[in-house]
Amino acid sequence: MIQLTFLGHSGWLIQKDAYHLLIDPFLESNPAAKNRASDVKADFIIVTHAHGDHLGDAIPIARRTGAIIISNFEITQFCEKHGAKTHGMHIGGSHEFPFGKIKLTPAWHGSSFPDGTYGGTPAGCLITMDGKTIYHAGDTGLFMDMQLIGEMNPIDLALLPIGDNFTMGIPDAVKAVSLLKPKMVIPMHYNTFDIIKADPEDFISKIKQPGVTAQVVNPGQSVQL
Ligand code: NI
Ligand code: MN
Repeated sequence: MIQLTFLGHSGWLIQKDAYHLLIDPFLESNPAAKNRASDVKADFIIVTHAHGDHLGDAIPIARRTGAIIISNFEITQFCEKHGAKTHGMHIGGSHEFPFGKIKLTPAWHGSSFPDGTYGGTPAGCLITMDGKTIYHAGDTGLFMDMQLIGEMNPIDLALLPIGDNFTMGIPDAVKAVSLLKPKMVIPMHYNTFDIIKADPEDFISKIKQPGVTAQVVNPGQSVQL
């Protein structure tokens, strides 16, 4: 069984057996976060891109827990310099970790660090564990290759940004669902700040894809796969 807890914004804690996998742990500066960087558990941390609302507290959490940061090569080089253990990958590459398999997927976005350092290309990721596949889109606009991702990977759960301005808004995220064909969808990257205000119920009501269930998960809440 896999348990996913929403940390707010694009942040997730995925628990499987004894493993704690964090994605984009933006906690201390996140007004919506219910968890603290000082006490969250982690064995592995996926960082989709270098923007502050995704890199977040990954480095201090990795230094405290000994967790391995999984990200693109440029981001892992930066994190190594700041004292974190890492595993560098890049778009299109996959790797088998003790908890399951990670594949980095494209995302249309930027990826500079808060200090302006080059952060490589932004990514999404496919996580396959326990026979289930989770797609975290990262920050991205809509792109047609989502159809390819959906064709080649039976997606059990898609985590999609809907907040507009920096990423897909609701109409594009609805189209993304029809390309990805996941069994379940949870929206993210909305309402953290005024500039990305969106109504997740409006998103869910617009998904007409047969066989897809969509669910709003609030920060601090969990779902099981
Ligand atoms: Ni971003
Ligand atoms: Mn973002």
